[in-house]
Amino acid sequence: MSQEEFRQISEFITTHYGIKLPDFKKTMVEGRLQKRLRKTAIKSFSEYIDFVFSKKGTEEMLEMIDAISTNKTDFFRESTHFDFLTNTLLPQFAEENVREKLKIWSAAASSGEEIYTIAMVMEEYNADVSKSSINYSILGTDISIEKLKTAIAAIYPEDRIKDIPIFIRDKYLMKSKDATKKVVRFIPSIRSKVQFKRLNLMENNYSVDGDYDIVFCRNVLIYFDKELQERVINRLCEKLKTGGYFFLGHSESIIGKKVPLRQVEPTVYQKI
Ligand SMILES: C[S@@+](CC[C@H](N)C(=O)[O-])C[C@H]1O[C@@H](n2cnc3c(N)ncnc32)[C@H](O)[C@@H]1O
Repeated sequence: MSQEEFRQISEFITTHYGIKLPDFKKTMVEGRLQKRLRKTAIKSFSEYIDFVFSKKGTEEMLEMIDAISTNKTDFFRESTHFDFLTNTLLPQFAEENVREKLKIWSAAASSGEEIYTIAMVMEEYNADVSKSSINYSILGTDISIEKLKTAIAAIYPEDRIKDIPIFIRDKYLMKSKDATKKVVRFIPSIRSKVQFKRLNLMENNYSVDGDYDIVFCRNVLIYFDKELQERVINRLCEKLKTGGYFFLGHSESIIGKKVPLRQVEPTVYQKI
């Protein structure tokens, strides 16, 4: 890939999807797009670029974004957030809002692991008869159509669920009837609590309803520049109730940004 070809791709991705692609990422981009060249049987990067930016290339454009963006995620990733949810936020919410529904949004849901972790945490909380149970719904959004398809299917290879404690796995995951298939699927009662849709954080108006109690936006802002991070946090906060909670990834922060949040725990904030 020539420097000029890399520039065309990186400028497009940064302008439309916010993801920064400095020069040192050229080898990574080249490697990931090689796979797209093989799939589409296109011989050179210059032909690929012409195709992607042509009218016929709309679908391939989505594949290109999927190939370039980093979708790494895990069940119970950065688990202190889920402890905080169980030990602090949910008891507080149960006390204050007995009849209401707790609305949670994960704004970079990737293939769903974060969403299903939240759902399992909610179910575990509600399973404790000494506590009053909480009605809830969870929305997951992402730009990656491929990842959202996995999230909607709720099917994962067995080796992906190692971070889910065994007693929880047994309650909320079903094995495939076909023993040769080493996959598991979330049970219907968990699936009925979650919804997914495609949303680009670069959009000016997010097409989701408002009044969320909790927003997770973890491990995506790190790919954006500072100014865009501030804009995205402010837009997400428009959808968050005053007093609602906002979670960032462990290596992200609001330091130096004008946003209506106050810190309550490392990487956990409350809307003011
Ligand atoms: C590293 S994953 C983080 C997943 C999960 N939140 C976690 O912490 O495990 C980042 C996700 O952000 C998504 N993403 C990147 N740019 C985006 C954008 N402009 N709008 C919406 N999602 C985006 C990617 O597709 C990817 O699934």
